[in-house]
Order: sequence, then C-alpha cells, then structure tokens
Amino acid sequence: MSKRAVARKENVRRPQYSADMRQRQLSLVSPSSAGAERGEARVQQGDALGFYAHWPSPTVIVADGPYGVSGFPGDPPTPDGLGEWYEPHVRAWADLAQPSTTLWFWNSEVGWAEVHPVLKAHGWQYAGASIWDKGIGHIAGNVNSKSIRSFPVVSEVCVRYVRDVRLPTLDGQLLPMRQWLRYEWQRSGLPLTKTNEACGVRNAATRKYFTLDWRWYFPPPEMIERLAAYATRHGKPTDVPYFSVDRVSPISGEQWKVMRAKWNHVHGITNVWQEPALRGDERLRVDGRMKCVHLNQKPLKLMERIVAAASDPGDVVWEPFGGLCTASVAAARLGRHSFAAEINPEYYELALDRLNDDVDAVTDAAATG
Ligand SMILES: C[S@@+](CC[C@H](N)C(=O)[O-])C[C@H]1O[C@@H](n2cnc3c(N)ncnc32)[C@H](O)[C@@H]1O
Repeated sequence: MSKRAVARKENVRRPQYSADMRQRQLSLVSPSSAGAERGEARVQQGDALGFYAHWPSPTVIVADGPYGVSGFPGDPPTPDGLGEWYEPHVRAWADLAQPSTTLWFWNSEVGWAEVHPVLKAHGWQYAGASIWDKGIGHIAGNVNSKSIRSFPVVSEVCVRYVRDVRLPTLDGQLLPMRQWLRYEWQRSGLPLTKTNEACGVRNAATRKYFTLDWRWYFPPPEMIERLAAYATRHGKPTDVPYFSVDRVSPISGEQWKVMRAKWNHVHGITNVWQEPALRGDERLRVDGRMKCVHLNQKPLKLMERIVAAASDPGDVVWEPFGGLCTASVAAARLGRHSFAAEINPEYYELALDRLNDDVDAVTDAAATG
C-alpha cells in the first residue's frame, strides 16, 4: 500500500459508516500461541469512526487515543475539550458493544477526568482505575527543582469500564440487573426468603444475589435457571415467563453468562503497575537510531495483561487508535482477533511492518523450534 493514501481528519460527530480507506488483513502467530491458538490482526488506515460498523462486535476495546498533550499530530494541546473529542467514538462503542464488552481507557489522570462524564452518559460503568507507574527513571535528570511547582508526573491511568446492563420490565422500564432480579422475583408473589430454597443454599441467595447494596453478586448461570424454574413452578400464574428478556422464555444460563464482562483473574497483580517506560529493544526507533518512531508506544506486557484479563482466545479486540498497534500485537499473540485503525499514514505503515515482523519472527521461530 502507498504512503500517499489520504487520512480522513474531519472530526465528525456521528460514526461515518462508509469505509473509503484501505485495509489489510494479516494473520499472526505468536510464541505464546504457536502451535495452538491463532490470532488474526487487521489494521486499517483512516479515522476509526469510519470502521467501527464494519468490525465484529468487540469483547474488548483498548482505547489509547488523544491525551491533550500535543503528543502526536492531531492530539489537542490541552485536555480541555477531550470529552467532546471522544464523544462520537464513545457513542459508537456503546452502540456496537455487547453487554459483556470491556473498555480499557488509557489517558493522563486529567484527560480521563475530562472524558469520564461522557463515558458514563453513554452507559459505560466505571469498574476500576489502574496506575501505570513508570518510576523515577522516567524523569531523572529532567526536573528543575527551582522552577517545578508540583510532583513530577511519572504515571498514566488505564481505566476499566463495563456496560451498565439494564433489563426490561413488563411495563417497558429498563432496570439495572440487581433491581431487575428483585423485580422478577417479586412479580412471582413469592417471599424473598424462598430464593434460598430455589438456589439450594442456606442464605447465599438473599445475602448475595438479591441484596441491593455493594455486597451484590452476579448469580451464576446455574442459579438463574434454578430461580426461573422455581418461580414458574411455585409463583403466580403468568403469561410472561419469569426471568425472561424476550417475554417468550426464561433467560438461559448461557444467555445470562454473557450479560456481564469477562474477568480472568491472576493473583499478585494489583492496580499499580510498576513498569518503566519503553527503552530497550521493544521500542521502535528510526533506522535503529536513538529517536523513537512514536512517543506513546505502550509496553507489550501491559497490553497483554489487559487483553488477557478481559477476554479469551477467539474473542474480538478493537484498537481504534492504533499508533504502533501494541494492543493488536498483544491480542494476536494471545490468540484473539484484533481490529485496529491508525489515522496517520506513516504510523500506519510502521504498525503494519511491526505486525508483519511479528508474524515473520514467530513463524520462523515456530518452524525452527
Ligand atoms: C496514544 S497513540 C497510541 C499508541 C499505541 N497504544 C501504541 O502502543 O503504539 C494514539 C494514536 O491514535 C491515532 N489517532 C488519533 N485519532 C485517530 C482516529 N480518529 N482514528 C484512528 N487513529 C487515530 C494517532 O495518530 C496516534 O498514533
């Protein structure tokens, strides 16, 4: 593909669904997936807004876009107005997400503060902020104690959002899941204590699944099926099945399971990630010299961490603001299928080379190993 391709730079307010940009499909195999899972990576050049509707619905979105620090062409000079900048993207993510989609939003702390209300307004529910601590080495030699007026900044945030899932009542209201569970049970006319009998537990149902406070637990798929069966057998006769989303049949365990985001837990990892900014071989440089090709290249280790935590092999990962497409490399290595966009033609070419190198390197390793 030629480097002359023209990037679309208009800041359109609605997702534009006419894809007039070039695209390439790549297949990647990585050390961790060699011989087992195979991830595919697609990267397209142009404004991500034009691509979303053509990508399959994501399990994970890794958004590492503008910070408002003039970090790359098109990055605003200050974080003011970042919310407005992100709004059409946030809206499109919400429109095209599943109830189980996780959004990882990278930014500075103030950039995130600007965008959070927009995310919330579009049904993205805050699930936790992680701090990337780059360590003192990040500012060593760069701080003038005579002129500095705050603590030197060595961090970025990576904030996890999940969908604020709401389910329908008989009169057309949409209730958050925990309220909906209670609503459906109360509709059966049965006392709340009977939920324990329905689930075959002493008191876990009332204590965990039907509480309205912070101790609420998402009922496992088996339990939702037991609750629906019990309400049908012992509750008031009804034309609309209990615990039904489509008004035709009760929700199945499989349907219920995908009503919340995935989480693959790894012990020992907290929400403070101590990891130096990239310096070594992983950092892409201009013709092997000192100059970095992209100021915002993220450590592969952190991208692998967030992709692995919120998805499984075979799932779809979006990387709308590709840069050097670190999340796509991570996703492909972990056997996920990634879809990325990069608006800048030069970064796009570099990302493409990077993805191709990764394929070649790993293919060679797999072949000789
Ligand atoms: C913070 S960098 C991403 C760095 C990336 N995570 C990495 O590790 O290489 C953001 C990138 O988004 C790109 N970008 C900005 N607006 C975009 C848009 N509307 N569509 C696609 N890419 C965009 C910029 O050109 C920049 O390269």
